[in-house]
Formats: sequence, structure tokens, C-alpha cells
Amino acid sequence: MPQGSPIISIIGLTKAFGGKAVLRGIDLEIFPGESLVVLGGSGAGKSVFLKHLIGLLHPDEGHVVVDGVDITVAEPTVAIGLRKRFGMSFQEGALFDSMSVFENIAFPLRRHSGLDERGIAGQVRRCLSLVRLEGIEDRFPAELSGGMRRRVGFARAIALEPEILLFDEPTTGLDPINTAAIANVINHMRHEMKVTAVTITHDMGLAFRIADRLAMIKDGVIIAQGDPEAFRNDPDPYVQAFLKGEVPAGEEVVT
Ligand SMILES: Nc1ncnc2c1ncn2[C@@H]1O[C@H](COP(=O)(O)OP(=O)(O)OP(=O)(O)O)[C@@H](O)[C@H]1O
Ligand SMILES: [Mg+2]
Repeated sequence: MPQGSPIISIIGLTKAFGGKAVLRGIDLEIFPGESLVVLGGSGAGKSVFLKHLIGLLHPDEGHVVVDGVDITVAEPTVAIGLRKRFGMSFQEGALFDSMSVFENIAFPLRRHSGLDERGIAGQVRRCLSLVRLEGIEDRFPAELSGGMRRRVGFARAIALEPEILLFDEPTTGLDPINTAAIANVINHMRHEMKVTAVTITHDMGLAFRIADRLAMIKDGVIIAQGDPEAFRNDPDPYVQAFLKGEVPAGEEVVT
């Protein structure tokens, strides 16, 4: 377990939708500067978990404490201030198809940065360079490959220079070469920006390339966590099945 105080503490996080429990008491700490990967099967509640960190969902029970402030009970102005410290890359990609790459990345800058046009152009260029895409400002999302669209989404997520980056399934639908490229970009951004990163995935090819620490969600709780070596050696049969891509003994495949 890393030393020092956590930047985010998740305590007893519980959430149900229409009577169906999704999160049943998640306890997890995230430390400044680390890259935490949260693994879990399809429908395990990974996206629901991530949305609680940024206040997009409110828990039924439990707390999310960011830098000592409990965002589940904070005043809206305080919660909004904290949210600005996060950058999120959504599972769906969520680029604006009718806008150029430039305008997609400029969008949060125009709303929140106070930069003039020259400053915006400079920051867009810097963000594209951090995701290893240069000179594509005038292209439109439909003209880009899936991997490039993801990276433009990252560039938008870092435009306001957040301290904490959240990635929801950054490699879904990408081939192994693009997956490796995305892992390199995430590591490059972390190195350059000194951010804390939380990545949700079920892609083992990504997970072990970027993780300082891993945690596994199953049945609404964290069943295992540790650094890559400890996690690989975790005795839990579900963790082992997940790592090897096998169906755990005694379990039906759930979709
Ligand atoms: N806004 C919502 N309203 C109702 N049910 C929801 C809502 N959001 C998520 N759920 C349900 O919560 C469960 C967990 O969803 P979630 O999207 O977090 O899964 P996931 O682990 O991210 O899966 P995937 O790997 O497919 O992305 C699912 O059964 C889903 O249908
Ligand atoms: Mg999801």
C-alpha cells in the first residue's frame, strides 16, 4: 500500500438502480500521483463507480472524500470547484461530431479557462502533442480512426490541466497495437503532467502496462487489490480466472 494521505477515499459506497444493487460497499483509497486500474466484468458497476468520483452520480450510502472534502455532502459550489480538478475520458468517447478536433479541445477552454484565442490555440496544440497527435486540428471526428478519436478525447480531458484523470474503458474496440499505443500515451501524459490516474478496464493488455496498483470489483465490492505483482499472485479464484481469461469454476458466464 502506498504511503501518505490518499487524494481520494471511497468509503462504503453503495448504489442501487430500481432495487437492483450495483455497488454494495466499495472501500478504496487512491493516492496522489499513482495510476490505479480498476478491473471488473461487464456490468460489474465500473462506470457507475467512476461517475461517483466526479459527482455525476450520488450514492445511496457511503462517501467520496476528495482532498479532505466529502463531495457527497459538500455545498454545490464546493463540489463544482472540486470537479474542475478532474478530467474524464468517457467510455463512449463523447466527441462532438459536428466540431473540428480544434473546437472539441477548445470547448472546455472557451467555457472555463479565460484564455484568449491565441492562448486557446497554444493550449490545443500542447494537448494534441501530449497525446502524440500533431497537426490534426482541422480534421473532424468522422475522419479519424478509433484510436485517434480516443486520443482526441484525452486531449480534451487534459485541456484544463486537471490533477486527476479518469479513463473509462479507453481501449474498447481497439486492436492490440492501438491498445499498446493508448497505454503509451497514458504513460506519457502521466509522466509529463504528474497526475493521478484512475482507469477502468477489462483489458489486461492495457491494465498491466499502465498500473502502479490494481483493484477488482465483483458483486459490488472490491475483492482484491495490490501492486501488479501482488495482484497477479492474488489467491482469489475469480481474479485468477480474470487474469487468464477463463470462466471461473462453478460460475456461469454472465453478460
Ligand atoms: N443510470 C442508470 N440507471 C439504471 N441502471 C443503471 C444506470 N447506470 C448503470 N446502470 C446499471 O448498473 C449496472 C452496472 O453498469 P455499469 O455501466 O457501471 O457497468 P460496467 O461495469 O461499466 O460495464 P461495461 O464493462 O459493460 O462498461 C448495469 O446493470 C447497468 O444497467
Ligand atoms: Mg462501463
